Amino acid sequence: MRSFQFYNPTRLIFGKGQLEALKTEVPKYGKRVLLVYGGGSIKRSGLYDQVIGLLKEAGAEVTELAGVEPNPRLSTVHKGVDLCKTNNIDLILAVGGGSVLDCSKAIAVGAKYDGDMWDFAQRKAVAQDALPLGTVLTMAATGSEMNSGSVITNQDTQEKLGWGSAYSFPAFSILDPVNTYTVPLDQTVYGMVDMMSHVLEHYFHLDANTPVQLGFCETILRTVMDAAPRLVEDLENYELRETILYCGTMALNGVLNMGLAGDWATHNIEHAVSAVYDIPHGGGLAILFPHWMKHNLDVNVDRFKRLAINVFEVNPEGKSDKQIAEEGIEALSRFWTSIGAPNRLADYDIDDSQIDVMADKAMLFGPFGNFKKLQREDVVSIYKASL
Ligand code: NZQ
Ligand code: ZN
Repeated sequence: MRSFQFYNPTRLIFGKGQLEALKTEVPKYGKRVLLVYGGGSIKRSGLYDQVIGLLKEAGAEVTELAGVEPNPRLSTVHKGVDLCKTNNIDLILAVGGGSVLDCSKAIAVGAKYDGDMWDFAQRKAVAQDALPLGTVLTMAATGSEMNSGSVITNQDTQEKLGWGSAYSFPAFSILDPVNTYTVPLDQTVYGMVDMMSHVLEHYFHLDANTPVQLGFCETILRTVMDAAPRLVEDLENYELRETILYCGTMALNGVLNMGLAGDWATHNIEHAVSAVYDIPHGGGLAILFPHWMKHNLDVNVDRFKRLAINVFEVNPEGKSDKQIAEEGIEALSRFWTSIGAPNRLADYDIDDSQIDVMADKAMLFGPFGNFKKLQREDVVSIYKASL
């Protein structure tokens, strides 16, 4: 293992009926609340009314920012920052999926910064302060509810960049599986692909002596694979929603990567696709991850073989290590397709015309990936294989 420090200050409030915790959590931070949400799902589900009711009981004065886009935009972050500054906001409350949470994190740091929050995404500055942020998560996917990461799209430059800081963890996050019942089938699938991809990003590391970490990763992957086919047939099943919600949080809250540096190249490659085509993140990952795997099989074939046997139950008898590893990758791809995920860029009408543009975006900060450093030609080759 490499040396590490673990720090996670988010109070995780998980379970049925836990929304009530707003009454005790919100007053800890002040009266003036900026309520941030997306395109209307929380109004249709009734969650909006419940949140407003509890905020009233907590004595909060509420300002609203509605309409955060999937793949949240810098222009919306700017609107939120202005609202915080003009209304002297004490607490931001994000109610929604990863996009609403990520946008709120950017607003939280932007509200305490004199320049443009985009400086943080461009690595020109590091956030030194933020407004406190509480979240009510409505969709299992990103892990944003218990991590410091955020991904923002700048529409003017067609850039989608991840950033984070010690100040952008939520102070509290409320996760009630019931609030995920209304997530539509396609987004439910994308969310499960995303959380599995986070686990896989951790799984592919070069640090030695990480048996517990590998085992944790395999358990989460097997658990999602066990629950997913049943969940897509039964979207309001409490136990399955609960399991998947918990998996999503555990996949990216810092626990799995203690003592190791995961790869993260596929995420970077996907963000460049979403930047240009505005496709759902999980859909892009389902297409690209198997091709990243095939491209990097020889870096450590034993890791791929272990994944194939322990997670995909590939029978190793009479096969070479490489054959076993390849069967595992095929099994992953087949599994994602079986639950309804796309598997070619053509599924989103993406052809080869923008490959150079996407490759340039992926290379913005130079060669990347901790399992294998990818050069531009590697990225181009992965895009081409994914067409
Ligand atoms: O906008 P509304 O109306 O709320 O609808 C959303 C949106 O259309 C809908 N939805 C969410 N909860 C719902 C619901 N519909 C009905 N009922 C509910 N309970 O689902 C759609 C997608 O929502 P979004 O928040 O975009 O999805 P997700 O949670 O997958 O977030 C994706 C974003 O997170 C970034 C992605 O790149 C993408 O921009 N990521 C953030 C990470 C992080 N902060 O750590 C890591 C990830 O790897 C990822 O990159
Ligand atoms: Zn992701």
